[in-house]
Amino acid sequence: MNENTIEDLREALKYSPDNIPLQLLLAETLVTLNRLEEAEIEYSNILSKSNDIKAKIGLATVYFKKGNYSTCNVILEELIDNGTKEINIFILYAKGLLKEELIAKAIEAYQKALAIDPDYFDEELDSQLRQKEVIEVIATEEEFDNRFLEKPNINFDDVGGMETVKKEIELKIIKPLLHPELYKAYGKKIGGGILLYGPPGCGKTYIAKATAGQVNAKFISVSLNDILDMWIGNSEKNLHEIFDLARNNTPCVLFIDEIDALGASRSDMKQSSSRHLINQFLQELDGINNSNEGILIIGATNTPWNLDPAFRRPGRFDRIVFVSPPDIITRASILKLKLSDKPIGTIDVQTIAKKTQQYSGADIDAIIDIAIEQKLEDSFSDGIPKPLETKDLISAVKKHKPSTQEWFTTAKNFAMFANDSGLYDDILTYMKIKK
Ligand SMILES: Nc1ncnc2c1ncn2[C@@H]1O[C@H](COP(=O)(O)OP(=O)(O)O)[C@@H](O)[C@H]1O
Ligand SMILES: [Mg+2]
Repeated sequence: MNENTIEDLREALKYSPDNIPLQLLLAETLVTLNRLEEAEIEYSNILSKSNDIKAKIGLATVYFKKGNYSTCNVILEELIDNGTKEINIFILYAKGLLKEELIAKAIEAYQKALAIDPDYFDEELDSQLRQKEVIEVIATEEEFDNRFLEKPNINFDDVGGMETVKKEIELKIIKPLLHPELYKAYGKKIGGGILLYGPPGCGKTYIAKATAGQVNAKFISVSLNDILDMWIGNSEKNLHEIFDLARNNTPCVLFIDEIDALGASRSDMKQSSSRHLINQFLQELDGINNSNEGILIIGATNTPWNLDPAFRRPGRFDRIVFVSPPDIITRASILKLKLSDKPIGTIDVQTIAKKTQQYSGADIDAIIDIAIEQKLEDSFSDGIPKPLETKDLISAVKKHKPSTQEWFTTAKNFAMFANDSGLYDDILTYMKIKK
């Protein structure tokens, strides 16, 4: 075929302009000669007269050759949606998807082509897809790992106060990690985790992270709500992958926030699929199929009363620890800690600690932020940075209300009326309702 063929075909078409096979032949010949613009015109012209599948494939091929892969794919998708069984369509579609780096879809298309003709083999496409598939799997795994895994730069020294919580963590999970042989010698079973609960912003996440720093372990932090929502229908796989990530990175602290997301009292958790998910979570927690040795499990929730009681059985979250708003001593040490790297004049930490009853650690962060913003604004007038003073923090306290009261309003009801086996005694003691 050559230039003359084209001329002959064009000449013939003049006499029978509606001869579609002839026009297709012309278009195909143009493609072979790489005269893509002309081929596009012919195919489009055919399609304006008839809904011809060959013309559609031809047009898609033209777009593919021109590097316009998305248009090529759109045309092919329409054909596939209409139930085509034409193998060439799936092959071209797989190639188009590969060009667009849509690897999973490309593999699927190629597999559909092979289902039509098991003997079909396209060596180049096959090997490219195999390579990409491997890279793709590694890439998503890495993304997954990086998203949840960190090496913390804080330890218990960076946590103001919280002495009881530190002690509980020390006894329940740090000691067993450091001296497993002693525990074994006394026949004491290692395992299970600590569940921290309390009002938001009072240091649950923070101390979990510091625990990892304390024992020089990695920190894996996940929020159960994220796991459940991120990949709908994939929750079980992800739950398993998180535990596997922890198992592959021991020693580590596995921090699971919003544990109540799997709470039985949430209405949408009553379905059997959710029950299944809870069971799987408990199995992972129990380390039934895989050992959890070297993993310190810390859970956290703001609403422990939504938690399925099965979570609290021995070997699971059998220590449940109240993380209260910081007391005056803790507030003073949080203030000192947080101000240590700021430009400060003389600051009477005690006075501010006294004025911040019911403020959470996060509230204290906010107060310091507000004071600094004010200072910055003052500095703009003469360009001289001025250090923070006590009065700056006091006026910031007035601008920021404590955030923990609301939580106690709810918590009090549960502690008074649903306090099975004294689970929430710490709340009552804290509220001075009970000694
Ligand atoms: N005891 C503490 N010592 C130092 N900073 C604290 C303390 N408690 C809370 N904070 C600060 O408050 C912020 C919020 O705490 P966070 O751990 O996220 O609260 P929670 O997880 O309980 O909602 C932390 O990032 C930290 O800066
Ligand atoms: Mg938190």
